[in-house]
Amino acid sequence: MRILGIETSCDETSAAVVDHGCNVLSCVIGSSKKDFEFRGGVIPEDAARKQLEMILPVIEKALKNANCDHTEIDAIAVTAGPGLLGSLLVGTTTSRALSALWKKPLIPVHHTLGHLSSTWLEAEGVDVFPILTLSVSGGHSDLWYRTSHMTGALLGSTRDDAAGEAFDKGAMMLGLPYPGGPALASLADAGDEESCTFPLPLSHEHSMDFSFSGLKTSLKYVLRDLGDRVKDDSVRASIAASYQFAICLHLQSSVERALKKFPECKHIHVVGGVSANQRLRVMLKKLAEVHGIGVRWPSQLSYCTDNGAMIAAAGFFLISEKPETLGADFKTSATQSLSLSSN
Ligand code: KG4
Ligand code: ZN
Repeated sequence: MRILGIETSCDETSAAVVDHGCNVLSCVIGSSKKDFEFRGGVIPEDAARKQLEMILPVIEKALKNANCDHTEIDAIAVTAGPGLLGSLLVGTTTSRALSALWKKPLIPVHHTLGHLSSTWLEAEGVDVFPILTLSVSGGHSDLWYRTSHMTGALLGSTRDDAAGEAFDKGAMMLGLPYPGGPALASLADAGDEESCTFPLPLSHEHSMDFSFSGLKTSLKYVLRDLGDRVKDDSVRASIAASYQFAICLHLQSSVERALKKFPECKHIHVVGGVSANQRLRVMLKKLAEVHGIGVRWPSQLSYCTDNGAMIAAAGFFLISEKPETLGADFKTSATQSLSLSSN
């Protein structure tokens, strides 16, 4: 089964050709991030305009790089939501047109389901369920218990900001460009993460939810109290390292709680833009070792952030478990929640 995956939910324009949900033949990602570097975040209308220019060349390049033409594609999977409406519509409208022209069925995919499928891309060996999946990006932070690709339960999610947003907003306070996650992580490399202690969110609760807004407020006061010392590069690096550690520790504590509740899980998967964070990877690897289980993140950094390959993979797993979704009618929607069925 060969699927063309199309993703345009935020500021990326991506298309990929993937066989059987795992074998990536091509993955092309166009981005307008550079345009927003010093504007503090994405401007939705500008992003959608750029996507309109990029979408067809990106799809053509994905087919060319995969060395195939549209007759060799079995279906088109496209992100139907959530995301920026104008951006989503560029992807879904183009996909609808190509589907009619090429006579190929469409598979509407939830963006988060795409991230949940990203650990299968070019993955070695076959995974065994049940697993825990920590899905952390700029738009959501969720912890899932999964008994198959499409079945399981949501154990916890964020009550306010997403983990990626916590990185982005923290980075902005430290004067770093958008998207702040990678910039804050590289500043943190030179810092001492023990220099400043941030309070661990929700530490008095037994829930597996997340909350990042308190950390952001703490950072604001730490920076205010530092006054002019904040101009010192080594001080800023240490604050960045401590803040990054606090975010990772909060994520780790929820995963640890989940492992206690579901000891049958033999793997932790971590996906979404924040899964690119090396400090988080080290902490989750250690946690997995303590529990004698495996840990997995997407095989390439480009599969952590938004990309068409994960949408193609999700499309494949979706129709394998729910064949009725192939060619089903759908609505493009900026807000929609993902639910996995209980069996
Ligand atoms: O999954 P993604 O590409 O888009 C959404 O679905 O939101 O995630 C983007 C988020 C941004 O907030 C970005 O700052 C964060 O992922 N991110 C990182 C790193 N790379 C990307 N956060 C921390 N460390 C990184 N290395
Ligand atoms: Zn995403």
